[in-house]
Amino acid sequence: MGKIVAIYGSPRRNGNTAVLLRQAVAGARAVNADVVEVVLRDMRISPCLEIYGCKEKGRCSIQDDFQGLHDLFLESSGVMLASPIFFYAVSAHTKIMMDRCQALWVKKHWIDAVPMGQLRPRGKGLFISVGATKGRKLFDGALLTVKYFLETLDLVLWRSLLYRGLDFEGEVHRHPQYLEESYETGKEFARALFNGTKEQVG
Ligand SMILES: Cc1cc2nc3c(=O)[nH]c(=O)nc-3n(C[C@H](O)[C@H](O)[C@H](O)COP(=O)(O)O)c2cc1C
Repeated sequence: MGKIVAIYGSPRRNGNTAVLLRQAVAGARAVNADVVEVVLRDMRISPCLEIYGCKEKGRCSIQDDFQGLHDLFLESSGVMLASPIFFYAVSAHTKIMMDRCQALWVKKHWIDAVPMGQLRPRGKGLFISVGATKGRKLFDGALLTVKYFLETLDLVLWRSLLYRGLDFEGEVHRHPQYLEESYETGKEFARALFNGTKEQVG
């Protein structure tokens, strides 16, 4: 069985997205998935400096905690990503991690010359997000970013769990149905990844 990497993208250790992702991780582990948890706020990851040290070998030349994450992405066929909505986008912690994946983009499109837009999915992504307000377009910006990020890793966005109207830390505990949904989705995600179950993409 392959690996799943679960990325906690909130600056809050016990924020709403963290609680939801923990549920999804528990669900995936309940069906024996191998899940590695990564808490971005505890890592030392520089923003992309756009120096293109990656042009040579497709590996970022900045030596920090992203290096381990790079390897983990290559070993994993599933990514569970949780980020709150900050200014209609993903959190800064999440975006900094994503930008460092430009090294993978360079490897694919510049070094290996894979044509842009050519999808070659090898796995799946699950996105979990939360915002305080309730607008229709609340998740639009983040979703576009997440889809493109996953595509860079050769993963397809399998499902998104998006919850509106949650602001204060731990508020999500007032919605046991969200916790249950995340747990069950974590299970389904692992099954879809590793049992070859046909699942709807989107
Ligand atoms: C810097 C910042 C920007 C935010 N921007 C938005 C926003 O654009 N729309 C929104 O609905 N909520 C916004 N929020 C609220 C968070 O999305 C909300 O508190 C969420 O529950 C935080 O998730 P977490 O507990 O997992 O960190 C913002 C919060 C912060 C701190």
